[in-house]
Amino acid sequence: MIEVENLVKTFGNKSVIKGISFTVKDGEIYGLLGPNGSGKSTTMKILAGITPPSGGKVLVDGINVEENPLEVKRIVGYVPETPVLYESLTPVEFFSFVGSIRGISRGGLEERVERLVRAFGIENYMNELIGNLSFGTKQKVSIIAGLLHHPRVLILDEAINGLDPRSARIMKELLKGFKEEGKSIVFSTHILAVAEAVCDRVGIIYNGELIAEGTPEQLKSFAHEESLEDVFLRLTESQEEVSSIVKALREAF
Ligand SMILES: Nc1ncnc2c1ncn2[C@@H]1O[C@H](COP(=O)(O)OP(=O)(O)O)[C@@H](O)[C@H]1O
Ligand SMILES: [Mg+2]
Repeated sequence: MIEVENLVKTFGNKSVIKGISFTVKDGEIYGLLGPNGSGKSTTMKILAGITPPSGGKVLVDGINVEENPLEVKRIVGYVPETPVLYESLTPVEFFSFVGSIRGISRGGLEERVERLVRAFGIENYMNELIGNLSFGTKQKVSIIAGLLHHPRVLILDEAINGLDPRSARIMKELLKGFKEEGKSIVFSTHILAVAEAVCDRVGIIYNGELIAEGTPEQLKSFAHEESLEDVFLRLTESQEEVSSIVKALREAF
């Protein structure tokens, strides 16, 4: 379970997260949606124990991220927006490195790596240098690395971006399995159809504030809109702006 209470984050005198609160239950997939720069990644780094909050309280399975970030890192599987990998290692070497810092037994590690590598279809890249891999393959390596230690909580920042349709589908199925195991999952995406298909609840974050929250169904009926995309555009007031930009473009060309 994740409990976020009045979370604030400032960088210098810039206020980036302005007092947001939400909870994610065990066995729940919570989608964080919002335009670029709204504060999704910053929030997720705080949940993962990577960046300290400037104010408010964040508990991950009861552990306070500010007081005990190391313990939080131990129970969280975090997949960052941009893969952080060692370009001069091969995936095999990288997974064994992650396994050793995570204290995973060799046998357990090999079995888990093999299953995930097969699921994502990257068997043929296991001995290539990570630096030479395509963006999508790097993304898969990053996802697998985040899952190796059987985390109880998953923080997935745009983790489906850059995946081919087959792997995106596998990722969605994996998420459903993790949900059934009772894990708490937070994931951000720009692909609203994905959020709509996968998330139990969604929070829309805009300019550092949580401006709406609910099941995809609730948000749609609340805003009298057909899809989460329409809700999103309506709530972030960009629908008219988008129409006027499109109109101006049409006139210009
Ligand atoms: N380390 C940092 N220092 C200063 N500003 C930052 C830093 N990290 C993020 N920001 C700012 O915080 C805001 C939210 O960024 P981010 O959380 O990455 O948004 P999102 O993931 O929703 O696109 C942006 O204005 C960004 O420039
Ligand atoms: Mg981001």
